Amino acid sequence: MTPTDKIFVALDTAEAEAALALARRLAGLVGGIKLGKQLFTSEGPAGARKLAAPGLKMFLDLKFHDIPATVAGAVTAALKLKPFMLTVHAAGGRAMMQAAAKAATEAGKQRPLVLGVTVLTSLADRELAETGVAGTAADQVLRLARLAKESGLDGVVCSPREAKMLRQALGKDFKLVVPGIRPQWAASDDQKRVMTPKEAVAAGADYLVIGRPITAAEDPADAARRIAAELG
Ligand code: C5P
Repeated sequence: MTPTDKIFVALDTAEAEAALALARRLAGLVGGIKLGKQLFTSEGPAGARKLAAPGLKMFLDLKFHDIPATVAGAVTAALKLKPFMLTVHAAGGRAMMQAAAKAATEAGKQRPLVLGVTVLTSLADRELAETGVAGTAADQVLRLARLAKESGLDGVVCSPREAKMLRQALGKDFKLVVPGIRPQWAASDDQKRVMTPKEAVAAGADYLVIGRPITAAEDPADAARRIAAELG
């Protein structure tokens, strides 16, 4: 895997045309694009296909969370887009994650990586307690990541701060996909606890989700190149 392959650009906009222009500029300079609920809900599968068309791998971050049969159906439907990775909420439980992993195998060789979302970083210990989860957010992240692995998922999305702990606890083959990345030369925006691309990879990240340092840069292609060079 080259440094470029590790970079997934978060296209966090409802503006399909702007996203497409950006995707075209970044083809070959990043590993792929991350599409979330905003773009997908406004542009649908056709829009998602268009965005990946410049030869970019797709990280379909729709965070499925429902009963096992419904999530399996959603994963099966998602396979038509040939995503490279997709997400489900680990809090959906063992049977739901097993159903997601099984549905993904229908894609055969093109099976996407199925990743678990553990605890949303918008939830700290206090908010988690309000939802009935005792203990710390870190405990819950580890508990859900272990369950995700046992249930047959390929990895989890985690914050840079959690990467080292999860790498140690879950072994070298479990994929860690990490947002909250800021090169030293980029603004931190609303991200509070960030790591540079190099630090995150050293902490165990397999893939980096990077949004504004690339998308809001004056020259996004140059920003992507600089990040890959820093990783190399
Ligand atoms: O622009 P920025 O680099 O902050 O974008 C990071 C992307 O990763 C956004 O799509 C954001 O929603 C997502 N993300 C995150 N932190 C998490 C989970 C996802 O920043 N814990």
